[in-house]
Amino acid sequence: MTRSSPRLGTFDAASSIKPAIHAMPAYRREEPPATPPSRTIRLDWNESGYGPSPKALAALRDLRDLHRYPEIDAHTLRHALGVYIGAPGDQVIAGAGLDDVLNTLAMLLLEPGDRVVISEPTFGVYRPLFSSHGAEVCDAPLIADWNLDIDAVLDAAECAKLIVVCNPNNPTGNLFDPDAVERICAEANCVVAIDEAYAEFAGVNHLPLMDRYPNVAVLRTMSKFAGLAGMRVGYGVFPPALMEYLLRVMPAFCNVSAAATATVLASLEDLDYLNDIVARIISDREALIARLRAIPGVTPMNSATNFVLVRLPLADAGPVVRELATRGVFVRSFGRPDLRPYLRVSVGSPEENAIFVDELQSILEGSAG
Ligand SMILES: Cc1ncc(COP(=O)(O)O)c(C=O)c1O
Repeated sequence: MTRSSPRLGTFDAASSIKPAIHAMPAYRREEPPATPPSRTIRLDWNESGYGPSPKALAALRDLRDLHRYPEIDAHTLRHALGVYIGAPGDQVIAGAGLDDVLNTLAMLLLEPGDRVVISEPTFGVYRPLFSSHGAEVCDAPLIADWNLDIDAVLDAAECAKLIVVCNPNNPTGNLFDPDAVERICAEANCVVAIDEAYAEFAGVNHLPLMDRYPNVAVLRTMSKFAGLAGMRVGYGVFPPALMEYLLRVMPAFCNVSAAATATVLASLEDLDYLNDIVARIISDREALIARLRAIPGVTPMNSATNFVLVRLPLADAGPVVRELATRGVFVRSFGRPDLRPYLRVSVGSPEENAIFVDELQSILEGSAG
């Protein structure tokens, strides 16, 4: 049977999409400067200034069997990550970046209306990601010196499905009091996911909490310390009791490509090199902080990460960040009132850091004049 004429005008995109999506902002790229700068120094995404291990680059170059799918359950990758972090590979789930692992966790736990507790200011992906699953994302804001408000977190978590603790926290860069984190794990009746994206720079490891509390998951990424942000590989260690269910929602291949898998496996064979890079980034970070402190009115926060939150002597860091961009130096500012006087800068190579400090100083001197 053929239709004589197509039915027109019956498709309404807005009413087709999930209600939760209506309230969400779209991803927006920063407007590039009107005149393209002659150089580009990217210090806005907390990437590694040193890039990946040479072994990872060689593994990518030597890839052959790209016509084959990777392992359906990413077994080799998950077990190698398990050996690295010190957990059974059977408790590891990987994903196309840590963001993707968060998505898998959301798939597992969240129905529309379920509550997720976060402590803002924190990693900007949490709110939209959990909201897109229809969750009510509830903020228990950080208190003085960007510390956790334990009671507020626990109060908000009374009927929550998930608490996310970002430690060290992005964008503030600090580590929380270990007793505060432990109390949340001990007293919450829901899953507590500890996002350790910057663990290697902070020297923290929350795995021992998993031995003490059955509700704790630890999340990590290869983007930061291993310089593999472009490959998109993150992972999490989950309580054994959740694994049976996680294996039902985990995406096929863990969403990790053969190319990304090869670079991770090679990186994990080159840990001396990567540990050396981490030590250099930490030393570069301290040098950057010292130079920033020497600029009148500028207050860099202490950092346990590969970035620094910097308070400027201005009500709004936005215009300075835009001026830096016109000079080819890209850093982040934030729209939130509590972060308005701050910019966040990744620790780049020593040369990049020096250019950033010089340009910042020149802009601030100009605005003071
Ligand atoms: C705290 C935190 N968690 C997760 C991520 C995402 O990491 P990935 O690149 O593995 O998606 C980032 C990236 O900036 C981050 O800062």
